Amino acid sequence: MKITMVGTGYVGLVTGTCLADMGNDVICLDKDEEKLKNLEKGIMPIYERGLRDLAERNIREKRLMFTTDTKKAIQSSDVIFICVGTPPKKDGSVDLNYVFSVAKSIGKYMNNYKIVVDKSTVPVGTAEKVEKIIKEELKKRNKETEFDVVSNPEFLREGAAIKDFQNPDRVVVGTKTKDEKSIKIMERLYRSTTRVGRPIIFTDRKSAELIKYASNAMLAARISFINQLSHLCDKIGADIKEVSKGMGLDSRIGSRFLQAGAGFGGSCFPKDVSGLLMTLKNNKCPSSIFSAIINANEEQKLFVAEKVESLLHGLNGKTIAVWGLSFKPRTDDIRESPSLTIVKMFLEKGAKLRLFDPEAMDNFKKVFPESDNIYYGKKPYDAVENADILIILTEWDEFREPDFGLIKKKMKSPRIFDGRNIYNPEEIKEEGFEYEGVGRR
Ligand code: UGA
Repeated sequence: MKITMVGTGYVGLVTGTCLADMGNDVICLDKDEEKLKNLEKGIMPIYERGLRDLAERNIREKRLMFTTDTKKAIQSSDVIFICVGTPPKKDGSVDLNYVFSVAKSIGKYMNNYKIVVDKSTVPVGTAEKVEKIIKEELKKRNKETEFDVVSNPEFLREGAAIKDFQNPDRVVVGTKTKDEKSIKIMERLYRSTTRVGRPIIFTDRKSAELIKYASNAMLAARISFINQLSHLCDKIGADIKEVSKGMGLDSRIGSRFLQAGAGFGGSCFPKDVSGLLMTLKNNKCPSSIFSAIINANEEQKLFVAEKVESLLHGLNGKTIAVWGLSFKPRTDDIRESPSLTIVKMFLEKGAKLRLFDPEAMDNFKKVFPESDNIYYGKKPYDAVENADILIILTEWDEFREPDFGLIKKKMKSPRIFDGRNIYNPEEIKEEGFEYEGVGRR
């Protein structure tokens, strides 16, 4: 099948590469010429496990191409995926300008039947608006070309995006009517998914759009739920890991997304919960659960920062080593990362910071440049030099089994605050450290 991906961000690039790997001819369209030139050479704009190898292979075999030529990209494809950004506005609502501008271009250049697939995360009702914009553009050209707009939300986790695409829990496709030819084409497109036994669900467009927001909000709610319980565990001396394990063994609850920590981040959960909250408010529906998810997450970041402050009896003049800056492991993405809020608070209170992350330091330096108070280590052990405390904010694998003897030797005082609960408290204490986790000691 001939496919165009509009937008070579996270979703567009991963989806386009995976679709090319399934044998489709994929053109990735973007405005950024330099980015595309780099991509042609195999230089990826993001770090995602396995992406470079897969992209390189498909570029070499000429199934994955890149262009800035909108007309050519639109006219030469059967299916056009909209994968552009939908950033949050100041009030928490979603900025749809990029999506609408793609819809305009499609209407401007469309020459025969196309399926327009909305993969960007968009508020309920957007597919209808996209359809309207395309129709208006066609009308301006006096064209009556047939097309279908479908909603096909993505459920890719950063760091596991390729695996999630190739072996998803489900694929959701929302169509306007039940007998559209788009259903057949989308079924064909995802044949490799159904072949490995993963389900594809066809529904109406609004439900598909809502499934995406509701899924992210539910996962975020679980995290905020367990994070708030961690405060109680701290007070009464219970262990949140045990609580989470015991809860998760109930098959109605399940164990995933019940890990207490420094709060959730990323470009999706914070933005999507806020987006859903706005939609509920705009429709005059009760929405207290959704504001509580957001508030609890903000409180969690403060809770972590305040806990470190109390462990050190004040932050002024203290040296804090931080391991992990990305919003989660296996990504260089720092968008909405709890580390941003926590580091800012430490600096405001007069602490000196020694930071390390395997992938995200370049991005973090753009927000917090190196200075007298901020040092970036080349290795995790550089960061702990002379530190009053080591705190873990992201659970990268390489932090799990470090050389505690060396850490202890380098630190001013052997103290660890484990903001992701990756260590066994008993073992760390045996190594001679003072240890605190989130909701456990
Ligand atoms: C999330 C969803 O998991 C994907 O299904 C969805 O497609 C994606 O958003 C999106 O909308 O594009 P992602 O943001 O990449 O994926 O990351 P997650 O693995 O979901 O983690 C989000 C945050 O929750 C991270 O900061 C992580 O540290 C935190 N988290 C996760 C916890 O604090 N505890 C947990 O138990 C799990």
